Amino acid sequence: MRPSSNSLLLRGIGTLVTADPAAGEGPLGLIHDAAVLCRDARIDYVGPESGLPVSSVEEPLTLDLDGCVVLPGLIDCHTHLVYAGTRLGDFEARLCGESYAEIAARGGGILSTVAATREASDATLRDLASLRVEQTLVHGVTTIEVKSGYGLDTENELRLLETVLYCDRNGLPDLVPTFLGAHTLPAEARESEAARDRYVSLVVDEMLPQVARRRLARFCDVFIEEGAFRLDEGRKVLERAKGLGLGLKVHADQLTHTGGASLAAELGAVSVEHIEHASDADLAALAAAGTVAVLLPGASFFLRDEPVDAGRLRKAGVSMALATDQNPGSSPTDNLLLMAQMGVLASGMTIEEALLGITTHAARSLGMERDRGRVAPGMRADLALFRCEDPRELLYRFGAPLCSGVIKDGRYQRVEAGRMGGLRQHQ
Ligand code: NIG
Ligand code: FE
Repeated sequence: MRPSSNSLLLRGIGTLVTADPAAGEGPLGLIHDAAVLCRDARIDYVGPESGLPVSSVEEPLTLDLDGCVVLPGLIDCHTHLVYAGTRLGDFEARLCGESYAEIAARGGGILSTVAATREASDATLRDLASLRVEQTLVHGVTTIEVKSGYGLDTENELRLLETVLYCDRNGLPDLVPTFLGAHTLPAEARESEAARDRYVSLVVDEMLPQVARRRLARFCDVFIEEGAFRLDEGRKVLERAKGLGLGLKVHADQLTHTGGASLAAELGAVSVEHIEHASDADLAALAAAGTVAVLLPGASFFLRDEPVDAGRLRKAGVSMALATDQNPGSSPTDNLLLMAQMGVLASGMTIEEALLGITTHAARSLGMERDRGRVAPGMRADLALFRCEDPRELLYRFGAPLCSGVIKDGRYQRVEAGRMGGLRQHQ
């Protein structure tokens, strides 16, 4: 028998969470004493170890996992991780009672990150973003959606998306770029209604066509909020993006109720983000459209706002994903499992909803559910390995560094404890 370099066998899996109810027990599709065979970066066999087909031709590289829990590689479906600078001053000001919106209105907030990001060299931006991407492996993440939005002029928005493409490398999580030129109005567009209109036209008539022509993003997102973009402006941007073939995402109803979630549903957006303040009618529209709600408990926790009530979404029939929202102002974390723990403890999700929210529902929120987010034959061989015996521990042991390794495209990578010093490098 010849050893095979393109196949990997995982055996001794105590409990495999396939995230596919058709494949095993309960909503998580659990299989106990399981094995997974990966071949050529795809999953080939999934099932009980006792049912593993015996090959007389090749001997795969084999890892005995000694009873641990295995999940599909985790998917962080909403981040803003390309930026320079920190927001430590904003953080301290908020702790002293100033609100996120007040800080933004006086030119702090997103605009201060825009200034630091515009100033940073290409090399600095690449280094900062690469480090953040690499760090997510520590939490078992193998796919990350990354938004632009700290450039806010054509040159810098395109530069941020090019940075995402640069950071999308073998062995690291796959990156899914989203154009967020309509994140907030840049300072130069705040002087008058005319300047504001000119910025929206710049996004619609200059940035979006270039993003689409150069295939720099798969999705277009808009932040519809008081102090950011109005509903009619959001509609303009999203309709143009749709016409250019981009998928749609909307930051909606985060701080106030704006109607953004209903607009997302009307335009067939793949996902709607935040929705802390969505109404029952908005939720019904999302459910009818099949738009996935991406819950960002890190942001509501960090801004000391009320978390989303998962019970309302469940009752309305809205599918829920969870993400870190990694960004310097409202959620400076890369710990996706912690978001699942907060989804359970703060938002009232069930254990099953939280685990599906960082796997198959997160894949749906990126239109990638046929390729990843479940452990099934033919799916991409991305897996996350955890040092525990029962999948419920993943939610119970909150804050614990439970991930021991990942399989990315069929290749094993051991996870070391998180590297320190990231913050120093941000400055
Ligand atoms: O998702 N809502 C808008 N954007 C980010 C915050 C970005 C920032 O504060 O830098 C969010 O929360
Ligand atoms: Fe966000």
